[in-house]
Amino acid sequence: MIAAQSLDGFITKHDIPGAGFASAADKEYFRTALREFDCSVMGGVTYRGSRSALRAWRDTSRLQIVMTRAPAAFDGDATPGALEFADRAPAQILASLRERGRRKCALLGGAQIHSAFLAARLVDELWLTVEPLLFGGGTPLLAQRADTRLSLQACEQLAPDTLLLKYHLLR
Ligand SMILES: NC(=O)c1ccc[n+]([C@@H]2O[C@H](COP(=O)([O-])OP(=O)(O)OC[C@H]3O[C@@H](n4cnc5c(N)ncnc54)[C@H](OP(=O)(O)O)[C@@H]3O)[C@@H](O)[C@H]2O)c1
Repeated sequence: MIAAQSLDGFITKHDIPGAGFASAADKEYFRTALREFDCSVMGGVTYRGSRSALRAWRDTSRLQIVMTRAPAAFDGDATPGALEFADRAPAQILASLRERGRRKCALLGGAQIHSAFLAARLVDELWLTVEPLLFGGGTPLLAQRADTRLSLQACEQLAPDTLLLKYHLLR
């Protein structure tokens, strides 16, 4: 799970979609970090909010799966093997990626998708960028209550006021 959040735990600033609040240092780290992964999963809301940027980026190095309950609505965007839309549970999505030879999946949010994978105990690591901002409201990191313990593996200062925290989830 890879996310950028405010100090008070929000992945959006108020009602503004996207992670536009994240620092340039986070954006640079994020692009580089994604190169480690051969597939990724995001939710329909995150996809709709970043569709034009994703299409401009044209990153075909990863198989990107968008979780949606209405995959047919995205038929015009789908590119088999590069950008696919799936109405399946997290375990089914990961099983299918594994069958297709994919080994390292980046979970790219948003809150509903974070919670769905956490609830299914399918998150190994959390890479969390913490920006020096307080929003008091917005989309939280998680959409549902959780009770998960993590172990800090690494801490990097991406910029003078921005931290990258890497955790393993404990079982
Ligand atoms: N700061 C960050 O690092 C960061 C990272 C990611 C996202 N974000 C932001 O977070 C916000 C979105 O978060 P969110 O929690 O509202 O939405 P989300 O998790 O991105 O997407 C939720 C959508 O995923 C689909 N979905 C959820 N559970 C599903 C299931 N079990 N099976 C099939 N489809 C399922 C549904 O799509 P349909 O509606 O299409 O059916 C649902 O509406 C956006 O503003 C985004 O920009 C921030």
